[in-house]
Amino acid sequence: MLIEDIEFVTFRHPDLAAVRDFMVDYGLLDLQHDGDALYLRSYGDAPFSYVSTQGEAAFVGVGFRVSSREALDTLAARFDSPVTDCPHPGGGLYTVGADPDGRRLEFVFGAERLPAIPSGGDPIVWNDAHAKNRLGHFQRPAFGPSHIQRFGHVAVFSPDPQGVISWYGETLGMKASELIYQGKEKNVVAAFMHLETGAAWTDHHTLAIVGGKAVGLDHASFECRDIDDVGIGHMVMVDKGYKHRWGIGRHFHGSQIFDYWTDPAGFHVEHYVDGDLVNNDSPTLSYPFGRDTLLQWGPAFPGL
Ligand SMILES: [Fe+2]
Repeated sequence: MLIEDIEFVTFRHPDLAAVRDFMVDYGLLDLQHDGDALYLRSYGDAPFSYVSTQGEAAFVGVGFRVSSREALDTLAARFDSPVTDCPHPGGGLYTVGADPDGRRLEFVFGAERLPAIPSGGDPIVWNDAHAKNRLGHFQRPAFGPSHIQRFGHVAVFSPDPQGVISWYGETLGMKASELIYQGKEKNVVAAFMHLETGAAWTDHHTLAIVGGKAVGLDHASFECRDIDDVGIGHMVMVDKGYKHRWGIGRHFHGSQIFDYWTDPAGFHVEHYVDGDLVNNDSPTLSYPFGRDTLLQWGPAFPGL
């Protein structure tokens, strides 16, 4: 295993105050804002989950938590890049590379973890039709922004999806959980890629690669506490007048219950909960492109 998990996303925004207000209403927490760089944390133990520098709006890349010093050296050799002190909150050592489309990839080892912050309420105890588990207690979660637990994945556009899918497999050891094709099955147009974590369970996708005319970002995604956290977070964002994109629904690929919002610079961010997990025994599945595989329930994708 080279990489334990994805850990943070990096943007540039022209107005750091505006994106800070948006992301705090969205469910992240202030960590550090020193002039040119805004760092936000989640309720989990990651050193930070979101960083934006000031400048022309751009999705810059993502950061990964590396599994060992040896793994960091391996990655540094693959990218012909030095191992240096990591300048981000939490410190540690890091190396930096880029994928074939030019996205910045940062690999951090040994950063100091933050103490997780209690995110309010106990886990939901469900009463479904056949199993009554919540007896004599009412389900009354507090109203307020979502409690984002961690940064979960990105979905990116590439003009060369097959090349980029292969590159992430060969360079970072990632594997497709599910592929989408158009026409013949070998004509792959998108992939949901998971980290290589051996027998340990990992997210169905840490990276989704989707064919597109230009290099770009579809969305960056953050894991919330539970379904009430997604639903109440939705109401907070509605109350604040932010621009909604799509949701609430349940995806097909990865099964997440999702809700998408649009940040002040026009980037899409996703709240999710209840995603699928896979490991190295999980097969790669293939599906034809179509509306049926966009979601299992919820409103239609805007424009389709
Ligand atoms: Fe997503």
